[in-house]
Amino acid sequence: MNVGLNTQILPAGEAAVAAAADALTQGGLVAFPTETVYGLGADATNPAAIARLYQAKGRPAFNPLIAHIGDIAAARKIACFDAAATALGEAFWPGPLTLVLPKTEGCGVADLATAGLDTVAVRIPAHAIARDILRVFGGPVVAPSANISGHVSPTTAAHVHSDLAGRIDLIVDGGAVDVGVESTIIGCFDAPMLLRPGGLPRAEIERVLGRTLKQPPKDAENDSAQPLAPGMLASHYAPRARVRLNAVAVETGEALLAFGLGAISGIDAAAAVMNLSERGDLNEAAANLFGHLRALDAKGVRTIAVMPIPDDGLGEAINDRLRRAAVGRE
Ligand code: TXA
Ligand code: MG
Repeated sequence: MNVGLNTQILPAGEAAVAAAADALTQGGLVAFPTETVYGLGADATNPAAIARLYQAKGRPAFNPLIAHIGDIAAARKIACFDAAATALGEAFWPGPLTLVLPKTEGCGVADLATAGLDTVAVRIPAHAIARDILRVFGGPVVAPSANISGHVSPTTAAHVHSDLAGRIDLIVDGGAVDVGVESTIIGCFDAPMLLRPGGLPRAEIERVLGRTLKQPPKDAENDSAQPLAPGMLASHYAPRARVRLNAVAVETGEALLAFGLGAISGIDAAAAVMNLSERGDLNEAAANLFGHLRALDAKGVRTIAVMPIPDDGLGEAINDRLRRAAVGRE
């Protein structure tokens, strides 16, 4: 374990960007904001740094990482783009989209980061600080979400600090993120396939492709050692509390994660109530999701009851994360 490091926190700005690029060059681990969630970055070409990253998160090494790059030209050096991938990259980058593509010959991303697969996940983030760090560092940066493996992803620097202080070198604090759920992952090694719903709604992707996205085979979602999107393990994004979905009433002592202003019985007996979006806005709900889960969990309640959330737009990603948070605890 990397425990014992003195984790520095710097406010976003030129000095923080320079310190981040410097730490990455030296094989260090740097947490920084992206528009989706905070990432924990390491030099994608440095196996020792990547080994430290897996250790710091407690992440199984069979679960590959996303390589973040600054522009499409850099992406083409590490990954092979077919027509669909090109169309998606041009339409949505920089932004909350990750493409899983065949590696190029001279890919350069360490095998440890791709878990020995012949594909690599690539993303051009939209957040100004992430982009500045990538530009000054000048190479691909692998960055999983900056949380302990299995925990809820961090949407503020404080979340990162509570999970990873003492295990990483630097946290760049850029405030709360915009989107709040991780990027949508599309596999383009075959017919385009939705590997993980996320911050870019499925409908926008299907509009650009002019076709429906393929669903991964069912067993890809199981806890097997080699699933198609290995991070999609059933129990993930999990708070300590039990999570009860589609609640139509609150039971005594439960915390309530509400959505909209619809009535729900038993609310007066709730131990705590937080609303993802009183006006029923799914983008606002996504931005609040992980922070609210962490805050309710911190109250030490046994169960978090969650009101039903529509499945359109970012609702698909929200419901995906909530289902994973509920697995094994229902
Ligand atoms: O929004 C995001 O995507 C954030 C920010 C920091 O960019 N990153 C993120 O990374 O969510 P992580 O490591 O928490 O999730 C990456 C997912 C995992 O489920 C992993 O299994 C999958 O991407 N993945 C990575 N490489 C893959 C590959 N070659 N084939 C299939 N899945 C892959
Ligand atoms: Mg993650």
